[in-house]
Amino acid sequence: MAWLPQSPDPNPVEMVWDEMDLRVKAKEPTGAQHLWEQDCWKTISGDDLMKLIERMPRVCKAVIKAKNFRLNGDLYDAVSLAEDDQWRRIRNILSPSFTSGHLKEMFSIMKHHSHKLTDSLQSKAHNDEVIIVKDFFGSYSIDVMASCIFSVDFDSIKNPSNPFITHANQMFKFSILLYIFQACFPIFLPLLECLGVSLFPKSSTAFLKSVAEKVKAERISSSQASDDMLQHLIKCQTASENDKEKKHKGLTEHEIISQVTMFVFAGYETSAIALVFLAYSLARNPEIMKRLQSEIDSTFPNKGPVEYEALMQMEYLDSVVSECLRLYPSIPRLERVAKETVKISEITIPKGMLVMVPVYALHRDPELWPEPEEFKPDRFSKENKQNINPYTYLPFGAGPRSCMGTRFALMMVKLAMVEVLQNFSFSVCKETEIPLEMDVAGFVSPVRPIKLKLKMRSISSANVDPCN
Ligand code: HEM
Repeated sequence: MAWLPQSPDPNPVEMVWDEMDLRVKAKEPTGAQHLWEQDCWKTISGDDLMKLIERMPRVCKAVIKAKNFRLNGDLYDAVSLAEDDQWRRIRNILSPSFTSGHLKEMFSIMKHHSHKLTDSLQSKAHNDEVIIVKDFFGSYSIDVMASCIFSVDFDSIKNPSNPFITHANQMFKFSILLYIFQACFPIFLPLLECLGVSLFPKSSTAFLKSVAEKVKAERISSSQASDDMLQHLIKCQTASENDKEKKHKGLTEHEIISQVTMFVFAGYETSAIALVFLAYSLARNPEIMKRLQSEIDSTFPNKGPVEYEALMQMEYLDSVVSECLRLYPSIPRLERVAKETVKISEITIPKGMLVMVPVYALHRDPELWPEPEEFKPDRFSKENKQNINPYTYLPFGAGPRSCMGTRFALMMVKLAMVEVLQNFSFSVCKETEIPLEMDVAGFVSPVRPIKLKLKMRSISSANVDPCN
């Protein structure tokens, strides 16, 4: 865990970092390496880190403000970037979109896209082609997000070059130099903001927002109701941007567009990456894949239709997905700013200090996870799971600012993987890079695309219900 003052401070930057992080530092796939190299970190022993982890619920309560990079461009009021009362109001309004009832409704939309995904893989398996895994899971993911959020079916699986997916891929390609610069010299942030500098590529933000605006305008002019997230937000829209009283309860026009834009892309990239690494991990561990396929075949015999309740109760599937998110958490580091000075154990976190939680490093600490580089889903079996300290496993973050889409994402990832594995097996081929070289910017992802092959599975499909 690391501490960094957010406000400009002439004193040496105080850092607290467990030695474990130093050990895995070479593998940390983020811009943090560059900060390390400046020698501005202080280390504490593993015991102190464990003490801190035990007190994490307190840390999460005291240090709840997500770090605001400030260079957010037009997305400044998206829920993941907003602060304090604005964040609280927006999060409260968005939360009902993720209730079990809503998730079940979205399940049928997801199934439409998972069928398309499986269909699109048929010819690849048949012709023994090498596939770029992200092309398929990325299209599935963006189509699910766009359909569930504003009922638009881009059919990206058939049209992989559609501009929506191109811009979505650009969205989180932060400039690493800008990222490091703003972290090291926060004093320049106001100037950069005045100059309109943004961490998110402007052309992509503008494109995506224009799509969201168009869909919203069409929805209002046609007065066609829908059950998607956009409809829920429209219901919560305030009459006027300036109406102070209403603004405290509802969302402004600008806020609605920002939430829709941010949701599509926060959900798209993270879920697509999770599926890609899942396919890669299974291809490299065929025994685990077979065991998972046995669970799938016994839960949904003869490639039967995937049902929501049964899917969410599959134990081995859950262990496999959890283990994959341990090895490859989409977001490698969480960041918070202390709202008040807080003393935890012997460590004082002063008000305004940036706290960084190195999720990627924690997930690969050999003291927490024996043989950390190995893909071992049984770590998350029913019996073993209860011994895991939840603050050592943080793929979806923790505390009040944790991921809003956790259950949505798990449902979408599990559904796609089950349907694909009902029909195919993944295998590595000579084009598969082992080990992977990881990207250092943004999300945890490989530098070069992951390539695999697919084999058709030969189990009987006699009882397949064609309507599902
Ligand atoms: C496998 C897929 C996903 C992963 C691994 C993931 C992970 C995360 C993580 C680590 C955070 C930061 C949490 C923290 O700071 O404590 C986050 C925040 C967030 N996620 Fe996800 N996410 C995923 C999918 C989704 C989806 C599908 C949605 C929307 C439908 C979503 C919506 C959000 C939002 C809105 C936030 C910001 C919450 C706030 O600041 O209050 N995520 N996610």
